[in-house]
Amino acid sequence: MSSMLSLRNVWVEYGEKVVLERVDLDIAERSFVSIVGPSGAGKSTLLRLLLGQEVPTRGRILLDGVPLKPECGPDRGVVFQRYSIFPHLDARHNVLFGLECAAAPFTGRLFGRARRIALDEADAMLAAVGLGDSGHVFPAHMSGGMQQRLSIAQALVKRPRILLLDEPFGALDPGIRADMHVLVTRLWREQALTIAMVTHDISEAFTLATRVLTLDKRRHDPHAPHRYGATAVYDLTLDRRVAAETAHTASITIDDNVNN
Ligand SMILES: Nc1ncnc2c1ncn2[C@@H]1O[C@H](COP(=O)(O)OP(=O)(O)OP(=O)(O)O)[C@@H](O)[C@H]1O
Ligand SMILES: [Mg+2]
Repeated sequence: MSSMLSLRNVWVEYGEKVVLERVDLDIAERSFVSIVGPSGAGKSTLLRLLLGQEVPTRGRILLDGVPLKPECGPDRGVVFQRYSIFPHLDARHNVLFGLECAAAPFTGRLFGRARRIALDEADAMLAAVGLGDSGHVFPAHMSGGMQQRLSIAQALVKRPRILLLDEPFGALDPGIRADMHVLVTRLWREQALTIAMVTHDISEAFTLATRVLTLDKRRHDPHAPHRYGATAVYDLTLDRRVAAETAHTASITIDDNVNN
């Protein structure tokens, strides 16, 4: 499989503080990568790098072999734990807004035929996330699960190739969480997405992903905790085809190229 995103010797430092060090990573097109690790390990920082919101202090990030542009392009969509949706717009117009911004960055508005096409796309995306009947509902009247579905619709309507999820289901009840797992798995397959998802939930990481990446510090200096940064200490590839056939037992192969 081709590598879509590549990180080469990537470091992130804030002054004296090293957050990420020597991160070398290749993310294959259509893979589903879960990112786990202790709080403060730099998981969100890694997502911001992939989003182009943050620039590495050292090293390079390549998208299709070309240096990543330092802003969020239409090729990348993002869903954070805190919802990115606008309270003053109903569901339909929240999704439309993403399209309008992409198509008309100065006015933020589309008119006539272009607007009708965009509204059709917004409605189709709402239906895809199970909000087909909720186009006129405002966020204040939605459950947490509905709001998170709306966030996903807003991110996906721009047809990104890579979807970045930062603890997207952390605030949801277990039952709703299970529904969201079904939804994300379906969208990942149907829309040929590449997904990078940060989660604190190890079973969620293993259930959804084709690969589980653990970020942590490899070395510690007890006198200077900020001296060393985190990197990919474990990198497990899961065979989801085997997992599907045997239902519950996923086969795990340890990718030892991070351990050498
Ligand atoms: N702009 C900044 N200036 C200084 N330090 C920062 C900045 N942004 C992040 N950090 C530090 O970088 C480290 C990694 O932060 P990050 O948010 O990536 O961790 P995380 O793994 O996502 O943690 P959590 O699981 O709690 O969300 C933290 O110690 C944080 O304080
Ligand atoms: Mg975080």
